[in-house]
Amino acid sequence: MRIDIITVLPELLKSPFEASILKRAQDKGLVKVHLHNLRDYSIGKYKQVDDYQYGGGAGMVMMIEPIDKCISNLKSQRDYDEIIYLTPDGKTLNQNIANELSLKGNIIMLCGHYKGVDQRVREMFVTREISIGDYVLSGGELAAAVLSDSIIRLLPGVLNDESSALSDSFQDNLLAPEVYTRPADYKGLKVPDILLSGNFGKIDEWRHQNAIERTKKRRPDLFGEK
Ligand code: 6GU
Repeated sequence: MRIDIITVLPELLKSPFEASILKRAQDKGLVKVHLHNLRDYSIGKYKQVDDYQYGGGAGMVMMIEPIDKCISNLKSQRDYDEIIYLTPDGKTLNQNIANELSLKGNIIMLCGHYKGVDQRVREMFVTREISIGDYVLSGGELAAAVLSDSIIRLLPGVLNDESSALSDSFQDNLLAPEVYTRPADYKGLKVPDILLSGNFGKIDEWRHQNAIERTKKRRPDLFGEK
């Protein structure tokens, strides 16, 4: 998989890809992530990428021309399966979307800033619009990092134990069960006996039941949904 991220703040996006699982996935050659500074495609001597909005009002709008130049340049080098615009008015990210995107080959992510992009960018280039929740961030960069992480960890070979992504919360619309590690008794707080029993059939059953109870209690909205 290849992810190209277009941003006015590449420095904000660097570090999430330089540590832990996202770094390992790249080191293993399972994903390539390229950051593109939109300002490199700016117009005029002031390296302009945004301008006042037609009709008046506060806040700048990202111009179509630099974005067109950047996307056209990328598209001339390879085909893209998705061009995703990160925006608070997009479709809210969930595990199904992450699963679906993890099956794609080449993806462009465009990070919105200021008041967002000129509407014609959305009409001309964008294949999907994604938000990461009902709150406003200063820009799409952190959202692009969140979206990338949610996708990359699903690629085969990225996680050591391949089954572990499948047992995450939300794969099944269930939250993950409680987990424990040593010691078995900490200041009188005990690990459930069943987990120490060595009976893996019974343990699986307990975990499934625990996941159901936790979901009903914490996220009744998820329960029974498909
Ligand atoms: Cl994708 N962008 C911004 N600016 N704010 C957000 C968001 C995206 N998702 C939730 N809030």
